[in-house]
Amino acid sequence: MIFKRKSFHLFRDRAGDLIEEQICRLENFISQVKPLDPEIKTEIRIVSESETSCKRGAQYCILFYSEKKKGYLRNIGYIGEQIELYLASENVGSLWFGIGKTEQKQINGLDYVIMIAIASMPREKFRKDMFKAKRKPLAEVWKGDDLGVADIVRFAPSACNTQPWYTENEGNRLKVYRYKKTGKRGIMPADMVAYYNRIDIGIYLFLLEVCLKHQNIMYDRQLFDDETDDQEFSISAQYVLRR
Ligand SMILES: Cc1cc2nc3c(=O)[nH]c(=O)nc-3n(C[C@H](O)[C@H](O)[C@H](O)COP(=O)(O)O)c2cc1C
Repeated sequence: MIFKRKSFHLFRDRAGDLIEEQICRLENFISQVKPLDPEIKTEIRIVSESETSCKRGAQYCILFYSEKKKGYLRNIGYIGEQIELYLASENVGSLWFGIGKTEQKQINGLDYVIMIAIASMPREKFRKDMFKAKRKPLAEVWKGDDLGVADIVRFAPSACNTQPWYTENEGNRLKVYRYKKTGKRGIMPADMVAYYNRIDIGIYLFLLEVCLKHQNIMYDRQLFDDETDDQEFSISAQYVLRR
């Protein structure tokens, strides 16, 4: 599904509506997702697109709510990407929609974080050749042996395609950093970059783990707080490889 997924910025030529049985399966999948940090309370709601500011022609939006604890954005990225890949397996197109807004800002004391817009799409509308997608070259995002995973995981989605990750393979461990461009600014305001890029790192960590498992590489994961924004590279996670 990493190869098949793509962002549907506009849901044109939809394959009809999602049927109730698909929604049930999706809800069931959502109830079984694995968080990065089980201590952080989250809630996920499926609402119609019209209940949000999203006007991309989707049918529904999946709304993510969370307790605002350390690492909550990364945790939502990690959870949401599991859902995005599941949706691709069902031919449901999706779009992480950072600029989206919803009236319901809180659920059970948990704050709204981000949404993913979704709609049923024809199979042929999904990605055909992932390697044609625009991404930074491998050398800019990965140092050391690629383990057969680096050239796949670099295709992870990120807000405005910023790809704020850098992985260092030191042989027996992988260090994953959130990279923050200093100096010249992109189109997003700095506080939004800091917010979305933490979600992006969670997305990246999930895809990295999928790729490592696919290569039969076992690991022990250690997470770091990644709270400050004053350095160019901020460590987010370390994977000690068991070989
Ligand atoms: C956290 C996050 C927020 C995003 N927000 C938006 C958004 O507000 N509007 C939009 O059109 N695309 C949004 N995207 C989609 C990205 O632009 C897209 O993932 C990226 O350009 C890579 O393209 P791909 O997903 O097709 O591989 C977002 C993606 C992520 C991961």
